[in-house]
Amino acid sequence: MKIAILASEGAPYAKSGGLGDVMEALPAALARIEGNEVVLILPYYKKIKENPAYEVEQVAQFHVALGWRRQYAGIFRLLNRNDSVQVFFVDSQYYFGARPGAIYGDVDDGERFAFFSKACLDALVAVDFVPDVIQCNDWQTALVPTLLHAQYRALFPNTKCMYTIHNIEYQGWAHGDFFDDVLALPWEYRNTLDMGGSVNLMKGAIESADLVTTVSQTYARELMYPYYAHGLDGILASNAWKLTGITNGIDVGTFNPETDPHLPAHFNADSFREGKAACKAALQEEVGLPIREDVPLMVMVTRLAGHKGLDLLCYIARRLMWEEDCQLLVVGTGEPRFEQFFRELAAEFPDRVAAKLIFDLGLAARTYAGGDIYLMPSKSEPCGLSQMNAMRYGTVPVVHSTGGLKDTVPPVDENGQNGLGFTFQSYNADDFYGALKRCLRLYNEMPEAFRALQYTDMCQDFSWNVPAGKYMELFHQMLGW
Ligand code: GLC
Repeated sequence: MKIAILASEGAPYAKSGGLGDVMEALPAALARIEGNEVVLILPYYKKIKENPAYEVEQVAQFHVALGWRRQYAGIFRLLNRNDSVQVFFVDSQYYFGARPGAIYGDVDDGERFAFFSKACLDALVAVDFVPDVIQCNDWQTALVPTLLHAQYRALFPNTKCMYTIHNIEYQGWAHGDFFDDVLALPWEYRNTLDMGGSVNLMKGAIESADLVTTVSQTYARELMYPYYAHGLDGILASNAWKLTGITNGIDVGTFNPETDPHLPAHFNADSFREGKAACKAALQEEVGLPIREDVPLMVMVTRLAGHKGLDLLCYIARRLMWEEDCQLLVVGTGEPRFEQFFRELAAEFPDRVAAKLIFDLGLAARTYAGGDIYLMPSKSEPCGLSQMNAMRYGTVPVVHSTGGLKDTVPPVDENGQNGLGFTFQSYNADDFYGALKRCLRLYNEMPEAFRALQYTDMCQDFSWNVPAGKYMELFHQMLGW
């Protein structure tokens, strides 16, 4: 099967969050399945362009029409990739190459990714890859299914399109004028993209795609409700027949405590006691906490964004420090109010709390490996990957039972058995505190049971093999093969 995957980020080239991880592992997993040919197309961001590690050759160039604009696009093929995934970058100095900042956040993001979506389809034509299936992701490539119907049918007569929602919070809203000014699609598609007079790219994709998926089964069910769907519940309910949840995996090659180059000591499920103890001591030293083996080290690697449940942690943090002998390490960047909170908390409890307000993949890995308990009280979580990274590195998760967290962390009983971590049901600080207390009790009073739980967590198969198989089933279903 010929599969084209289109996305705004993909590790290791460009990553701002979980989408980047998925776009590293899913194409690779699909390419390992016999008979598949996989193409991945990403924007050629400045950061990728300037990285000498990526050898490329230019294979095409053309102009993309966006309303009255005609914008140059260069297509570069990556030469040094060690698997069979073919990676292409869409070059535009104007939209990607000359932007100094992060991947997203420019005022013209809508136009930038409308350009990218069109350029991807033109690139497939230019490199003569007519896919059986296009898989596109989140709002940035949400225009693709509509473009296929409106303008590219003749070029791709039999191509089916799957649209995957990684996070419904970001939908690609634009002013109503965007439709004529930038998209310039035939008028009959205005309704497809319209939400209350504005353009909503994600809504258009849900309407136009052959199938819609999201990244966990529970999130697929949650999306039927206004609380989770950020205004799109009605659209999703009327398209519920084409919505499926496929729970993500993690890249078990990259996230492997036996080989991870970022770790000071290596371990596996059978040798984790010594290995993790060494990683914990090194981590405590690295972040400036007292080196103590006996104290539970609670950790979090996260974007400091509201929906990650940080308000719950802020609410209970001081009480936790007064009531329990424990350490807390928070790694990540984000909203100033949270950065400020953790900076102050660390100043108030210098022997107990460390805040590393940076985005650092090495420190993230050392945190998964050196922690004892992983906190993830997200308000909503489409899938979440770090709880799986944590478990793979033997760190016991405490999570809000929502979205992918519910699917990947079945709750344990009070003896730490019959599940993988501690969970709480309603989004409430006291319930979070209760779950955390149960976990601390297991750590402090039943250390062997805690070790047994760590072992069970480390033995889980979080690889992409199963989810990739499910994607294949849906691809077959779309194609009627
Ligand atoms: C988004 C979601 C996260 C998910 C990831 C990959 O970042 O917020 O829950 O794991 O996408 O699908």
